[in-house]
Amino acid sequence: MFKKQIIAIAATLLAGHGASALAADAKTVEVMHWWTSGGEAKALGVLKDNLKERGYAWKDSPIAGGGGEAARTVLKARVASNNPPDAIQMLGFTIPEYAAEGYLANLDPVATKEGWDKLVPPPIQRFSKVDGHWIAAPVDVHRTNWIWANKKIFDELKLTPPKTFDELVTAAAAIRKAGYIPLAHGGQPWQEATIFDSAVMSAGGPKFYQQALVKLDTGALGSKTMEKAFDQMRALRGMVDPNFPGRDWNLATSMVISGKAAMQIMGDWAKGEFASAGKKANVDYLCFQYPGTEGTFIFNTDQFATFKKGEASVPGEQAFASTIMDKGVQARFNQIKGSIPARLDVPEDGFDECGKKSMTDLRSALKADAMVGSFAHGHAMPDGPKTAVYDVVTHFFNSNQSSADAVKALVSAVNNSK
Ligand code: GAL
Repeated sequence: MFKKQIIAIAATLLAGHGASALAADAKTVEVMHWWTSGGEAKALGVLKDNLKERGYAWKDSPIAGGGGEAARTVLKARVASNNPPDAIQMLGFTIPEYAAEGYLANLDPVATKEGWDKLVPPPIQRFSKVDGHWIAAPVDVHRTNWIWANKKIFDELKLTPPKTFDELVTAAAAIRKAGYIPLAHGGQPWQEATIFDSAVMSAGGPKFYQQALVKLDTGALGSKTMEKAFDQMRALRGMVDPNFPGRDWNLATSMVISGKAAMQIMGDWAKGEFASAGKKANVDYLCFQYPGTEGTFIFNTDQFATFKKGEASVPGEQAFASTIMDKGVQARFNQIKGSIPARLDVPEDGFDECGKKSMTDLRSALKADAMVGSFAHGHAMPDGPKTAVYDVVTHFFNSNQSSADAVKALVSAVNNSK
């Protein structure tokens, strides 16, 4: 399926890049990514500086578009025309898919030297390694089941972080009554999917989440519990403003920062935007878990894979992988980005309270088997079913479909995609 897509794209492109496209400057590493928001760009600066210190120039290839859909499309086209970048940001199942086709370089030499095996949590290694070989370097651990709230609005209305979904609904009504938008949302499929991660977890807990979104079990997908997840999505739809369609995630975050809206449900890259605007945790904004998901950790890890391009590019690519996994780099990068390090040995000093909470929660969720991959960000199911579930979730959010009908559509979409 994946190979066929690449070949199909290749057929639509003019052939002829050939080997010349591969003869890049050996002292330059071209890095493709989708980190173009204020917070993301600042965090990226940490990686760029470190690579420079190692004697390599960074050639920046940003492809704007939160969630990375646009970047993945461009990558397919570049691979098809035999002109991949040296390194690219990748998520979840995309990594083993490219590895299976033989495109990715083996990072074992640097991974073994630096002892990555002992540093990275197993649920993340599951995507960084194929057949026991390292093929991607994880830089962060993001978490999707967060709510970001404007503290001034919460204080003014005497609200505290809701502990149950019903409390969230009550708080949203009070916020609306006071003239604020309860929920800042960007109407793009990946953002609706991000909310769905939390709704499924809240409705059924980590075992149900795994059964439905990781194992794709028909019984779980078609269950009453799944209906409850859609009920939550329907209630959330009632909390947004009319201008949500198409809005970028960072513009939604700005609405919370400026006090136009009270909350946003988003991964902790949103925290990078608060930080970039000079806002402080528990002073200007609050961070708390989506109600009903406390104790669980829905993760989305950004990794960087490098492409096989011949001997000349090997030193640059290995140096780049070393940059990504550098202990100091992971501390500085993640403090800016809003995430926490993928390395478990980075101390929590320098992280704000939301970051420290994430670090503690990750460790306990790991023990309790409550750390699960984000469906929205490609860590729960492969690309085929992921796209099918995206369609169901987005259609539901943007129509008047009933939860019972959405669940039926979910079951058939997943079965057809297998
Ligand atoms: C995700 C990515 C995050 C964040 C977000 C918004 O796919 O993993 O690091 O940047 O997109 O762009």
